[in-house]
Amino acid sequence: MVDLLDKFDSIVAQRTALPFEEADPFTVVMDKIISETEAIINGRPTILAGTNNYMGMTFNQEALEAAHKALDDFGTGTTGSRVLNGTYGSHKTLEARIAEFYGVEHCMVFSTGYQANLGMISTLAGKNDYVIIDADSHASIYDGCAMGNATIVRFKHNDVAQLERRLKRLPEDAGKLLVVEGIYSMLGDSAPLKEILELGKEYGCETLVDEAHSMGFCGEKGRGIAEDLGVEHMVDYIVGTFSKSVGTIGGFAVSNHPKFDVLRLVCRPYVFTASLPPSVVASAIASIEAISRAGNRRAHLWENAKMLHGGLKEAGFDLATEKAESPIIAVCLPDIETATHFWENLLKEGVYVNMAVPPATPVGYNLMRVSICAQHTTEQVQEIITRFINTAKKINLKLGNA
Ligand SMILES: Cc1ncc(COP(=O)(O)O)c(C=O)c1O
Repeated sequence: MVDLLDKFDSIVAQRTALPFEEADPFTVVMDKIISETEAIINGRPTILAGTNNYMGMTFNQEALEAAHKALDDFGTGTTGSRVLNGTYGSHKTLEARIAEFYGVEHCMVFSTGYQANLGMISTLAGKNDYVIIDADSHASIYDGCAMGNATIVRFKHNDVAQLERRLKRLPEDAGKLLVVEGIYSMLGDSAPLKEILELGKEYGCETLVDEAHSMGFCGEKGRGIAEDLGVEHMVDYIVGTFSKSVGTIGGFAVSNHPKFDVLRLVCRPYVFTASLPPSVVASAIASIEAISRAGNRRAHLWENAKMLHGGLKEAGFDLATEKAESPIIAVCLPDIETATHFWENLLKEGVYVNMAVPPATPVGYNLMRVSICAQHTTEQVQEIITRFINTAKKINLKLGNA
């Protein structure tokens, strides 16, 4: 008899070969969450610098109160799909608020951002269609492509010239969906969205932009990179998540497409799953409301990101981007073993970041991925920089300016 899990033996072997001593990034446990920026991990007070909690909304007072009230009033869950018993008034209110936030007609809320991409892409781009994606796209985008059965056309990350060569070869009269992200989650770099969308439109594509890592702090109102670059009119669908800037869980898609609502009947990851619990919906409504008037918070987040990028760069770390293009600052390390030592020793120093290595990252990138938060104080950002430098000394990592 074949053991169906045997095919993963090489992955297990690879993982067990990594030289971790006490903690490893795949099994780390947050023993106690003290605030948006601090936790107890392995008994030690730790600065959280790898949570995607960009706008620091997880302890927002209004969101907490709204969630508590919804829990008391409506219970712990809906126990049903949106198209059966799982649509409450608050789900409709949330969709209306998001549509208003984006200044569009339609919004559909999903149970996660993963399902929003899975559902939107697989339903829009089916058999006989083409879906054109950046090679560094998130797994949810790849999985949406696979589920929809369209022909996948990949172009090199952010390579506009290659995108045009690919588009030129596609049949003029075929259905085409061009999908990109606003900010890429691993390297923290932004897409040349204007050029990409112009090409998409020139070659007859519908366009979908995933703003998972740009909503909340990019653009004047916090709608994302498309708003920031003034190109929202060229985007047919925006997908986003509540699991980052919004500080809870869930996903959404917005659009002005007049036929948008048919998706509620045919989009399987929307139809065949339970809807979000009322407490989550209530906190998302409050949080998005807070984000829409959070100009100061946004400004502080960008100050933090620039300070962190500048401090690490000055210390001689090899960074994935020339300047802070987002609150994600990715520190590149030479190999996976060094990444392993660095991550574990940085945690001992009291800083939690994400260790990100292939296949989660583009080939050759072994990263300490830092995501900074609007609630980090200037002192905490300085501490993160100091502790990065201490860790580099401890493991004898040669820095660029040494
Ligand atoms: C670019 C991108 N899209 C979508 C998602 C999925 O979001 P969620 O956590 O809501 O499932 C993620 C999550 O990391 C992401 O990075």
